[in-house]
Amino acid sequence: MTASEQIRSHRIGFIGAGNLAQSILRAFLDSGFVDREQIVISNRNERKLERVSRDFQIRAAKTNEEVIDFSDIVIIGVKPQDFYQCIEPIAHAFNSDQIIISLAAGISLQSVQKLIPNSQKILRVMPTTAAKIKESVIAYAATAAVKPHLQWINELLSTMGIVVPVEDGEMMRSILVGASSGIGFVYELMIYWQEWLEEHDIDAKTARNVTIQTFRAAAAMAGHESETPLSELQRKVVSLKGVTAAGLDSMRELEIERALRISFEKAAMRDQELGSTFVPV
Ligand SMILES: NC(=O)c1ccc[n+]([C@@H]2O[C@H](COP(=O)([O-])OP(=O)(O)OC[C@H]3O[C@@H](n4cnc5c(N)ncnc54)[C@H](OP(=O)(O)O)[C@@H]3O)[C@@H](O)[C@H]2O)c1
Repeated sequence: MTASEQIRSHRIGFIGAGNLAQSILRAFLDSGFVDREQIVISNRNERKLERVSRDFQIRAAKTNEEVIDFSDIVIIGVKPQDFYQCIEPIAHAFNSDQIIISLAAGISLQSVQKLIPNSQKILRVMPTTAAKIKESVIAYAATAAVKPHLQWINELLSTMGIVVPVEDGEMMRSILVGASSGIGFVYELMIYWQEWLEEHDIDAKTARNVTIQTFRAAAAMAGHESETPLSELQRKVVSLKGVTAAGLDSMRELEIERALRISFEKAAMRDQELGSTFVPV
């Protein structure tokens, strides 16, 4: 069977109809790999469930058990702080053939496995909010039993962006900080960019557009010349004793790199801290 036939042969259930679940649904359905009839979804708040099931024209389940009964793949999209409370009472309902995908930040593969002892095929998948525009980085770690399924699962996840297989733990945390929190960090820089332009006689709308285009251009050029190291691309836009050189010298004197490194480490430490509080197993 081809990867797309494999995808089509699996029923996909979502527990939790929140922001990320909806972004994933949008990516899956728009890709054409997944049909509406393959999907079922549940949610704690019934009104949201009704809205999501109407918007996406997919089947709504009255209970989380109903999702588990229907599905070959169960995607758990509840917040990390709700994870234990949601899954512990229904853990017995999963069977060992089902593929379980946990989206919860900070909850390790091992914790999910302990919480659902019947399960063997578990993935921890970490997309970013950019899944909704199919520009996400999607890191995943999987148990050994998932290995025979990885080709078509990769294909399914790639409907949201670029897929990066990782080991759970340090590698997953690095991608979480660099890519998921990373979007927040880049926005922090973009805010300063826009503000500086506005303070220097550029109207707010133009300042925003210039900021967006500058970040987009840097990323697009780096993507275009994907074999060229970033430091070399940077050298190409700097002339000796020129304007860009003056700004870069100042950034280095002010130790922007050090400030960013410390911030990344703090974010990684927070992920580690939170992880140990969510699932008491
Ligand atoms: N958003 C992101 O960019 C992002 C990125 C990476 C990872 N994640 C992870 O993805 C997960 C979801 O995040 P989110 O931003 O999509 O959160 P969210 O919008 O709050 O969605 C969570 C959904 O889970 C539902 N829920 C909670 N307990 C439930 C239960 N017992 N049974 C059924 N549904 C239940 C909530 O229902 P109510 O309507 O009642 O609140 C809510 O709709 C989190 O674990 C987060 O760590 C998110």
